[in-house]
Amino acid sequence: MNDVRALTMLGIHHIGIVVADLTAATERYQKLGFRLLEMLDLPEQGVRIAAFATGHNYVELLTPLDQESGVARFLAARGDGVHHVAYAVPDLTAALQTLAAAGFELIDHAPRVGLHGWRVAFIHPRSCHGVLTELVEIAPAPE
Ligand code: CO
Repeated sequence: MNDVRALTMLGIHHIGIVVADLTAATERYQKLGFRLLEMLDLPEQGVRIAAFATGHNYVELLTPLDQESGVARFLAARGDGVHHVAYAVPDLTAALQTLAAAGFELIDHAPRVGLHGWRVAFIHPRSCHGVLTELVEIAPAPE
């Protein structure tokens, strides 16, 4: 059923956390010891993001730019908190095909461009036990 290589999980890539006050949250995470990489808007997703580096992984703080976005609905319903977990895969297109064939409910059936030009796609929380799950395509480390 599965193309094993397509679903090789290279590790946790980042965690996305929704916050109402991005300025305060950014200061708080800097006090926690995280290094701010950048702050930018993704208007097509209706969010402003502060990205932090932590070793080989990242933390994204997300806040809504408008009240129509999924992040705005999440914030209204649940308040600040963990919004999604992202895993790194070597071949996102193949991973999506394999997951679709295995019955996963995909939000994105093809990769879209995320932060830093990464190719990303989301899997519906209904298919991942309540966790919005993002896949990010990362070239595997050379052997
Ligand atoms: Co993300």
